[in-house]
Amino acid sequence: MSDNVIILDHPLLKHKVSRLRDKNTGTNEFRSLIEEIAMLMGYEALRDLPIEDIEVQTPIESCHTPVISGKKLAIVPILRAGLGMVGGILALVPSAKVGHIGMYRDEETHEPHEYYCKLPDAIDERTIVVVDPMLATGGSAADAVSLIKAKGGRHIKFMSIIAAPEGVKKFTEAHPDVDLYIAQVDRCLNENAYICPGLGDAGDRIFGTK
Ligand code: PRP
Ligand code: URA
Repeated sequence: MSDNVIILDHPLLKHKVSRLRDKNTGTNEFRSLIEEIAMLMGYEALRDLPIEDIEVQTPIESCHTPVISGKKLAIVPILRAGLGMVGGILALVPSAKVGHIGMYRDEETHEPHEYYCKLPDAIDERTIVVVDPMLATGGSAADAVSLIKAKGGRHIKFMSIIAAPEGVKKFTEAHPDVDLYIAQVDRCLNENAYICPGLGDAGDRIFGTK
């Protein structure tokens, strides 16, 4: 596996992903789990955020102590399912800006189609975390990152909860400069380009549609 793929191997993540997979996990619990997993993954994915020392007066004395520096983080969910992960990262970085990229997969060809894109300003100066729980063929993720790069984004990370090997390959070949954080790599894609064993349709399970 390529150097820029980071598989987050924590028992809490593994446990929560197993709960997501269960078809008997209802919408309410599913949403909470997606958010909790995003927060746990975000904690790791953001460990290289830039910091700078500021001076703070404690009740005892003055000291120099680190805070996050630079332009505020940008979180960019891929609609719809990526929306479920935003709250988990905002819990860690409440000041983050949020952009949106709308993509849907053609049901026949499984090719991604973009229908919306709105990113925070000064995107070239921000660390950008793109989120989507599912990396199946990798088409949506690869195209979303290409779009962000075309709009000036430079410091990009991608977080996906479950990935198929086919998607990891496609993404890392398209974007060898982007770190890809994954909680679980599954076996393969089926004939409908769904991840096996996966968790089904993430958007439908988060929003209770279908
Ligand atoms: C799902 C998922 C990803 C995409 C992954 O979205 O949330 O965006 O499929 O598939 P890929 O790696 O093969 O491109 P979907 O297109 O079903 O849209 P939705 O979130 O609006 O349901
Ligand atoms: N999108 C999903 O929501 N699930 C899959 O398994 C593949 C794409």
